[in-house]
Amino acid sequence: MRLDVFTLFPEWFEWFVTQRHVRNVVAAGSELRFLDYRKTTPLGAGQVDDSPYGGGAGMVMRVDVVDAALQAAYGEASRSRRTVLLTPSGRTFDEGLADELAAEPELTLLCGRYEGVDERVREHLVTDAVSIGRYVLSGGELAAMVVADAVLRKLPGALGHADSALEESFSAALEGQPEYPHYTRPASYRGWGVPDVLLSGDHERVRRWRLERSRQRGRADRDGS
Ligand SMILES: C[S@@+](CC[C@H](N)C(=O)[O-])C[C@H]1O[C@@H](n2cnc3c(N)ncnc32)[C@H](O)[C@@H]1O
Repeated sequence: MRLDVFTLFPEWFEWFVTQRHVRNVVAAGSELRFLDYRKTTPLGAGQVDDSPYGGGAGMVMRVDVVDAALQAAYGEASRSRRTVLLTPSGRTFDEGLADELAAEPELTLLCGRYEGVDERVREHLVTDAVSIGRYVLSGGELAAMVVADAVLRKLPGALGHADSALEESFSAALEGQPEYPHYTRPASYRGWGVPDVLLSGDHERVRRWRLERSRQRGRADRDGS
């Protein structure tokens, strides 16, 4: 995958790229870039924002600045690329969308800042508007890391054990339900035990117990309990 993140703060991602699964996908041939809107802004003095039409507090990132950044990176090819604007008012990110984005050979994430981004970016320059939850962060960088992390760990070679990603919360193997509980040694700690079935050595019983616990968690999620 070729993943590009547009941001005003590329240095935020310096830590992200040192993480094991990210290094693994890069070693396996994926390419990650963190592109600074200020480097390609057509305005003087590195300007990227302006006051909102209609008045109000704060500044808005300009559409010409975002367009210039995309044009500099892709030219007219930017129109055919899966391009995600991170915004609290977008489609809520979930495992299904992570699967979908992981299948893209090329993916672009746009981070906003300040009051957000001129709406014409959403209307004309992107394919998706995505939120990581119903709360407001100071900028799109953490949201981009959440999306990038969930997507990159699905790529071949990302994880030490490829099987780890197959049977996880919300995967098809668990019928889209949250994952079952895990336990490890010691078998008893401060009197807190481990379910007997997990110590039984009976793989079929363990498999059925796990699926049932997964379904229970799914029902609890749906009931809001
Ligand atoms: C301070 S926020 C703007 C909030 C905007 N005024 C609003 O009320 O929806 C600045 C930037 O952070 C990012 N952001 C904040 N919360 C987010 C979330 N929950 N999901 C995705 N991106 C988010 C977006 O890129 C946004 O443009």
